[in-house]
Amino acid sequence: MNFLGLFGVDAMHEIVKDYYGKQLQTSGDLKTSACCDASNVPGWLKPLLARIHPEVMSRYYGCGLVCPLLLEGCRILDLGSGSGRDVYALAQLAGAHGHVVGVDMTEEQLAVAKSYRAYHAETFGFDNVIFKQGYIEKLDELGLESGSFDVIVSNCVINLSPDKD
Ligand SMILES: C[S@@+](CC[C@H](N)C(=O)[O-])C[C@H]1O[C@@H](n2cnc3c(N)ncnc32)[C@H](O)[C@@H]1O
Repeated sequence: MNFLGLFGVDAMHEIVKDYYGKQLQTSGDLKTSACCDASNVPGWLKPLLARIHPEVMSRYYGCGLVCPLLLEGCRILDLGSGSGRDVYALAQLAGAHGHVVGVDMTEEQLAVAKSYRAYHAETFGFDNVIFKQGYIEKLDELGLESGSFDVIVSNCVINLSPDKD
């Protein structure tokens, strides 16, 4: 029997929220060595990451790279955006004429992401991100307009979903 069979969808969500919201405070607390080394990123991404607030950077729990180039003007959705590192990197690539929506279910993660929105708007010279609390399995509850995204990314989240379909 797998974890879902043992606990059910709601309980699985609560277990994952507790881990990312309460147990982890920084990337150093991750209880796995399976994730990539966050410092090993392509050269073009480094200046973008350098403009992101250190607290957001320190709470990065993703793995690998979800930022394709050539996103100028794109409308981007980040599923399981956590404390917002990828949202704020993507926001710079999308520019003032694009935007990024981050969705996450964990209050503590969202609180960090939202608390630096004004900081990044000032740093980038434009405010093109919003964060929404919710489940990636229930996007229809979030008031997102159908067909309103050009690019959808997700970094280390679908693996945690009890309802991947
Ligand atoms: C491994 S962390 C990755 C966070 C972020 N993508 C990053 O790269 O730092 C997983 C995140 O996905 C969120 N998450 C997991 N399952 C989710 C679900 N079913 N719906 C919404 N968010 C979810 C967690 O709250 C957590 O913030």
